[in-house]
Amino acid sequence: MPAADIDDLPLRSRTPPEWGSAVLADPINLLIDHAFLEKKAANNAMELMTRWPGDNERPVPGWVETMTAIARDEAAHLAQVVRLLARRGGRLDRTHKNPYANELRLLVRKGSQPAEVLDRLFVSALIEARSCERFAVLASVAEDQELAKFYRSLYSSELGHFTVFLKLAYKIAPKETVDSRWLQILEAEAQILERQEPGPRIHSGVR
Ligand SMILES: [Fe+2]
Ligand SMILES: [Fe+2]
Repeated sequence: MPAADIDDLPLRSRTPPEWGSAVLADPINLLIDHAFLEKKAANNAMELMTRWPGDNERPVPGWVETMTAIARDEAAHLAQVVRLLARRGGRLDRTHKNPYANELRLLVRKGSQPAEVLDRLFVSALIEARSCERFAVLASVAEDQELAKFYRSLYSSELGHFTVFLKLAYKIAPKETVDSRWLQILEAEAQILERQEPGPRIHSGVR
C-alpha cells in the first residue's frame, strides 16, 4: 500500500474543513449514511467479482482475489460503523438514497467491453478516493476522539482500495485508453459532487 497522503489523491476538487464541522453536527445520520456506503461497497465488490471483461477469455490475474478481499474489508468496516452507531443509540433504516453514487454510475458505458468494466472500476476507484479524502477531513476536525480515530483508521484501507481498482483498470485496456477515460471521469466526479445537496452524508455537497 503506498504511503500516499491526501495531497496525492488525483481528485479535481478539495473539501474544506467547514464541510467536516457541518456534517459532524449530526453524527448519527452521518454514521447511518456511512454504513450504507460500506454495505454498497461490499456489494459492488461481490458484483464485480464475476464481471471481468470478455466472458470467453481468461479472468484477469488476481481479479477474484482482489474483489473478495475488498468485499471482506468493506463488510468489516460496515460492522465497525454499525457498532459505533448502536452504542450511540442509532439504527439503520431499511433503505437509503445515495444520489452522488447514482450519478457516478450513470457514467458507465453499458454493453461494450472493456469500456463497461473499465468505467465500473473507475467509478469504484473514485468513490474510494473521495471517501478517503472525506475521512481525512473528518479525522482532522472531529472533536469526538472516538470518531476521529475511527475515520483515521479507515483512511488507509480505502486508499488501498482506490489503488487496486486503478491498477486493475490498467490491466484490462491499453494505457492511452485508460489514461484519457480516467481524466474524463475525474472531471465528471468533481462536477457531480459540486451539485450535491449539503447534509450529514459522506458525499454531500459543500454549502
Ligand atoms: Fe470501506
Ligand atoms: Fe473501500
